[in-house]
This record gives sequence, structure tokens and C-alpha cells, in this order.
Amino acid sequence: MIQKPRGTRDMLPDEMERRREIEARMRARARLYGFREIATPVFEELELFTIRSGEGIINEMYVFEDKGGRSLALRPELTAPALRMYVEEGRSLNKPVKWCYFSDCFRYERPQKGRYRQFWQFGAELIGADSAMGDAEVIILGYDLLRTAGVKFVLRIGHLSFMRTLLADLDDEDKKKIRAFLDKREEETAVSHLRRIGLDDLCDPLISLCSARTLDEVFAVIGEIPEAARIREMFSILDSSGIPYEINPAIARGLDYYTGVVFECFAEGLGAENQILGGGAYRLAHLFGGEDTPSAGFAIGFDRVMVAVGEESWIPWQPEVIIVNTGEGRDHALFVAGEFRANGIITMTDLMDRSFSAQMKAAGKSADYAVIIGKDEVKAGTVTLKDMKTGTQEMLTVPEAVRKLISL
Ligand code: HAM
Repeated sequence: MIQKPRGTRDMLPDEMERRREIEARMRARARLYGFREIATPVFEELELFTIRSGEGIINEMYVFEDKGGRSLALRPELTAPALRMYVEEGRSLNKPVKWCYFSDCFRYERPQKGRYRQFWQFGAELIGADSAMGDAEVIILGYDLLRTAGVKFVLRIGHLSFMRTLLADLDDEDKKKIRAFLDKREEETAVSHLRRIGLDDLCDPLISLCSARTLDEVFAVIGEIPEAARIREMFSILDSSGIPYEINPAIARGLDYYTGVVFECFAEGLGAENQILGGGAYRLAHLFGGEDTPSAGFAIGFDRVMVAVGEESWIPWQPEVIIVNTGEGRDHALFVAGEFRANGIITMTDLMDRSFSAQMKAAGKSADYAVIIGKDEVKAGTVTLKDMKTGTQEMLTVPEAVRKLISL
């Protein structure tokens, strides 16, 4: 038997309906802030991701050569593709450009619950706004989308300038290592690394910075940096918008392109794979041949959203109807099916040439209502609507039946 590739999933109709329902709510929410959906290719030139995504992602990429000898990669994320697209197509658009996407990504990771090799991201990118309001709006949208989806989570916000200031004197290699340790939440290893390279005097400040939970505590460790006013303004906008958050200067993010504010959301009850959103301010356009353009965005792990909200029904109930007819009622049955569907009623007809009683039996198993069409109904142009739960039935005109079903 051939099975699906490791780390991928098949999705049955119940799951797809739940996903589509939540996805539609999130899309509609993003639109309310002016974010419009884009789509980019599933595969891109490999270089797009090796320029600035960082080792973590590069090591997990699905890379292949096509028949023309081009090196390509399945997209591991959508920020680099969105910015490539902005440079190619979007430079003449009015700024700020507000784009969102809902697409699958591919990373060769060790699969477990909430971590897959093919997974879906719902993300947003704000391109060309360099302001506290812009940074804040991206965070507010991410927060709002997770709320809309029904996830319980905490939002943690940091800023890369905090660590950048503290670690200014380290060489690039050591900075990278410290960042990688912090990203894995291994603060003690980061401290040991500082000791190993003879920077003992930075150990206590690093510990204090990692545990700082207010801006005053942060600036007490690193001093008033040039970015301080903008950072304070952004947090005050979040406060005025009633967004609850924790300040966490240890947030490092796994991708290399971030430059300013960084934020992550962690969902309740997801175990190890609880990071449900990641984002921040970054600069990528100039690396792809465009002008240097300040940008900010985030991506939500949609599969983790689905694990977090669980199985409870998100799908509004809608009656399902099966038309049961004797052979001579077929034309009337087709007419009734057309009328019902035109009015948004889920309507099925017999496709297996079953007898009247076999059709009734099937209706009892899989429908809420049977619409019986026999000789009398054909003659009168009516239908008999039978509630399969209660067994009660009544003869109605077609418009009466439609009205009844859509009012349920
Ligand atoms: P990321 O943190 O690598 O950021 O991914 C964003 C989210 O995708 C994660 O928080 C997680 O929920 C989900 N995710 C990542 N890997 C997997 C996986 N293997 N299985 C299931 N879910 C996963 C980015 O990708 C950035 N492009 C976000 C961004 C947009 N930054 C600025 N704009």
C-alpha cells in the first residue's frame, strides 16, 4: 500500500469544513484592516531563501533541481516570496502595501503533533510603513486574528535592539550563537557561552535583560537607546488599544531578516509546539533588487490553530436534504433540487438507482429531511417533507418547503 509522505496529512470533509470556516473568518477580519490576499508560487529560486532566512530554515528546505538545471526550493515560508513579489510587481502600488496570504509551506522537520512537513500559514505583511503605528497595527491584527479563530494564547513582544545594544562588542559569529541559544530558550547556555569567550561582565546584564518585563527594567540594563522613543510609543498604542502582552527581551526569532520589534504568540494546551504566531519588523526588499523598504508582518501556524481550537463544531448547522423519488418523479425531483439549491439548501438526489425503500433507508442514515416525490406530488407540483428525526411529515408547495428549510 502506498502511504502519504511522512509529515503530511489527508483531510476529510469534516476537518476541511472546520478549516474553511475558521479560515474565512480570519480572511474577513484581515480585510477589515485593509489587508488583501495574494498568492505566490509554491516553489521559488533557491537563492530567495538562502540570502537572508538563516541556517535553521535553510537546513530544513526541500530543494531540488528542475529539468533545466535550476535550483529551486519549496517555500518554507512566505515573507521572502511576498517581498520578492513586491519588488517585481508591487513597487508602483500605493504605500503602505497591505498583503495577506493563506498558503502551504514545506519544512523538513521531525513531525509531531502540531509540527508537519507541509503546513499552512495565515500571514500578513505591511510593506513601506516605518512607524510605531505600523508596527502596532501588525501586532494588533495578529492578536485579533487569533482571537477571531477562538484560540487562547499569550502575546510576547521584544525588540532586537535590546540584545543588539547589550552584545554590541561581540563578533558576528558569537552574536549569532547567543541569538540561536535565546531562540531555543536556552538562556543558561547563552550565559555559559559568554563565560567561555571571556565576557563574564556581560553575564549578569544578560540575565537581567532576559528577565526584564517592563521597558523601565529593559532600559535600566542597556541605557536609553536611540530607538527608545519609538518603542515606548508603540507600546503605548497597544495599551490604548487594550491589547494584553508581555514584554520579553529574550525573543530572538528563528529567521535572520528581523531588524526591530519581534513578537510571538503561544497557545494554551499545545505542548512543545505551542508557538502559534511569529513575526516582527524586517528589511528584505533591498536584498531582492528593490529599494530598502521597512516592513513588518507575521505568520500564524494555521494547523496549530486547528489543534488549539479542537474538534468542537465551528460549522453552523444546516439541514441536509435527500430527495427520494419513484422513477416517474425524476423530472419534478430535478426541478425541486434546483429550486432548493438556488435557495442555499444542501440537497442530494439518488445517484445509485436505488428502490424507493432503499432511498428512504439511506435518507434515515445521512439526512435531516427526506423530500418525498411520488405520483401525488408530481400531479400537484408539491413535495412531502419528512423530518427523519421525529418521523413527522407534511405535504407542502415547493416555496413553502424552501421557506421552512431556510428558517430552521
Ligand atoms: P515562523 O516563526 O518560522 O515565521 O513561522 C510562523 C508560524 O508557522 C510558527 O509560529 C508556527 O505556528 C508555524 N509553523 C512553523 N513551522 C511549522 C511546522 N513545521 N508545522 C506547523 N506549523 C509550523 C515565519 O515563517 C515568518 N515568515 C513570519 C513573518 C511574516 N515574519 C514577518 N512576516
